[in-house]
Amino acid sequence: MPGGGFAAPATAGTEFEARITPIVIISCIMAATGGLMFGYDVGVSGGVTSMNPFLKKFFPVVYRRKQTGDDSNYCKYDNQGLQLFTSSLYLAGLTATFFASYTTRKLGRRLTMLIAGFFFICGVALNAAAQDLAMLIVGRILLGCGVGFANQAVPLFLSEIAPTRIRGALNILFQLNVTIGILFANLVNYGTAKIKGGWGWRVSLGLAGIPALLLTVGALLVVDTPNSLIERGRLEEGKAVLRKIRGTDKIEPEFLELVEASRVAKLVKHPFRNLLERRNRPQLIIAVALQFFQQFTGINAIMFYAPVLFDTLGFGGDASLYSAVITGAVNVLSTVVSIYSVDKVGRRLLLLEAGVQMFLSQVAIAIILGIKVTDKSNNLGTSFAILVVVLICTYVSSFAWSWGPLGWLIPSETFPLETRSAGQSVTVCINLLFTFVIAQAFLSMLCKFQYGIFLFFSGWVVVMSFFVLFLVPETKNIPIEEMTERVWKQHWLWKRFMDDDYEHNFSGDMNGDTKKVGNSNGFDPSSQL
Ligand code: BGC
Repeated sequence: MPGGGFAAPATAGTEFEARITPIVIISCIMAATGGLMFGYDVGVSGGVTSMNPFLKKFFPVVYRRKQTGDDSNYCKYDNQGLQLFTSSLYLAGLTATFFASYTTRKLGRRLTMLIAGFFFICGVALNAAAQDLAMLIVGRILLGCGVGFANQAVPLFLSEIAPTRIRGALNILFQLNVTIGILFANLVNYGTAKIKGGWGWRVSLGLAGIPALLLTVGALLVVDTPNSLIERGRLEEGKAVLRKIRGTDKIEPEFLELVEASRVAKLVKHPFRNLLERRNRPQLIIAVALQFFQQFTGINAIMFYAPVLFDTLGFGGDASLYSAVITGAVNVLSTVVSIYSVDKVGRRLLLLEAGVQMFLSQVAIAIILGIKVTDKSNNLGTSFAILVVVLICTYVSSFAWSWGPLGWLIPSETFPLETRSAGQSVTVCINLLFTFVIAQAFLSMLCKFQYGIFLFFSGWVVVMSFFVLFLVPETKNIPIEEMTERVWKQHWLWKRFMDDDYEHNFSGDMNGDTKKVGNSNGFDPSSQL
């Protein structure tokens, strides 16, 4: 969620009677729009930034630099304001997450999605109509608020409304929709750059209105989740909704479990303090590290700035934009690979294989650029240009079947019940924080490090691969409630953090019913925030 606040995935727990009802299908469409919206915002800025009419209007300094060719190739886009256009969204998203965890709990998932849709629509309107830099940045900030609210509420809404057996798949599906959103933005940019009259960028920014409207209308149409209604004391309404979404009258066992889960969730009084306790540190360290490393693979340098990067390398406007479309398509297809392989080959193998592939691609790119692109000349020639695009594709594909979805999936399946909600918000915040850092720094780093920027990221890839090798345990096919016994207590390092009082302490709080609650379809992560 990218992605955003992914909620508890499916566990191997009790399977309640449930049909895939129309309301569940509508929910999947909602996931598509929430993810698409986020992805579209990620993908749109780079293409727009490489369009001359846009630069001329908002960043004349960069435009002049591009025209005169006075500066080094690597530095022509180095401008803090330009980077702020991309990064401001993530900073706003980061801040909004804190408010979103409150509204998700107090007002419900549905209203929180509605708030997100409202922010998105205002942001899109300001962006598409922007007359000056302030309008542009305020628009991006409003979009960021939308991302903060949507990424908290949509995945949670989905995980609560979907029958258990499709909940895990929806987790990665959200990421898939993010990648489709990025690709959609790349395609739109490719088309709008051709519009005569210099207003193509307005269409690019304005088309984000489509997923925004869909999300808003969707939020108006659907009902809130039974979990949220029960949590807010509306038991009868929750029961009626459960009956409606499951398409059966036999919902009593699930209903009782939801009521119990809601009661138990309220028992944890200080979830964030809890998160820092010794026995919860391994999961926290892994979640924070995975999100930090995910951004330091350098992926968003490509997702945000591919067109700018390709232009820097002398591809020319059109070639830059369609090269971005190619990398965007590879991103989508490789995410599908992940959906099929993650439960077969396991998380560790995917992460380690990707480490090798990303490292080799980045080093090869650095060598080609080091030889071919100097400060003043960027004549890559056709064959080398194609080779660079191919290498970027091999790099993106390995990210997309590993760090992309797993940076979200692993934290969501390793936090125990007592820290899951707090853990998820930390995961989202760390993601947005480092996404902001990369967005704000990449073009300046490209100017300073030149081709070395790829060596910089490849160095991080080595570090993160060793981290995975030694410190990330395999969680494939392990039910959530068995993680402590089968994963943490077996690990050479993390077992030292697992004191035996853990089960005792926590299950004591919950009348010894850890397993039942761990299986709960109704655990509401946000209720403890
Ligand atoms: C990351 C995003 C990134 C996207 C690319 C997500 O998992 O969190 O920052 O833009 O993958 O597909």
